[in-house]
Amino acid sequence: MTTRAPLPRLGWALTGSGHYVQETIDLMRRMPKLDIFLSKAADEVLRQYGKDLSGMQEGTRIFRDGAASAPPVGNFYKGHYHTLILGPATSNTVAKCVVGISDTLPTNVFAQAGKQRVPAIVFACDTRPIMDTEAPSGWFKVYPRPVDLENTEKLKAFSYTTVVETLPELEEALFARMAEIGEAVA
Ligand SMILES: Cc1cc2nc3c(=O)[nH]c(=O)nc-3n(C[C@H](O)[C@H](O)[C@H](O)COP(=O)(O)O)c2cc1C
Repeated sequence: MTTRAPLPRLGWALTGSGHYVQETIDLMRRMPKLDIFLSKAADEVLRQYGKDLSGMQEGTRIFRDGAASAPPVGNFYKGHYHTLILGPATSNTVAKCVVGISDTLPTNVFAQAGKQRVPAIVFACDTRPIMDTEAPSGWFKVYPRPVDLENTEKLKAFSYTTVVETLPELEEALFARMAEIGEAVA
């Protein structure tokens, strides 16, 4: 029998994306009982943008991608998480999630959340044929390929998964979920 944790937490997986990264960090700072999972690329990209994960709510934990078997994901099997946010999600991570690959911390927590029927909200980077996105040097246009857009669409068919395409959609889905489980957001 699985022992359920008395106070489940919010898991948030960050990938190596600069897409609305500051706005995402600002949202994370408002979340109570938060565990953050970083891919190796997320760690690098945050540094390139000069961003850090300071200022999170007290008790926030940060897990980095340092082991092949991703030991922190075991907590999904102990009922430690009520919800997983995956985002911003790179085209790389979305593609892996779609075909069931789980070889990074974010793809692994997504897979384990799915196997435990923990609801996931994915903020996909590649959602339209032409998009504005932010590089460390400023804003520029990006043209996601058909394969990137197809993968985002395919992920929408996954059970226990909500794919959001914009920051307001992410906020709406996240706040609705926090309200649903009775967690107050700062
Ligand atoms: C500054 C910077 C910004 C990036 N932003 C994005 C992005 O918005 N979307 C994307 O798909 N890849 C982006 N990449 C590329 C990913 O970081 C790269 O594909 C990486 O392998 C993704 O690994 P991950 O999916 O495991 O995090 C960016 C790379 C750099 C250096």
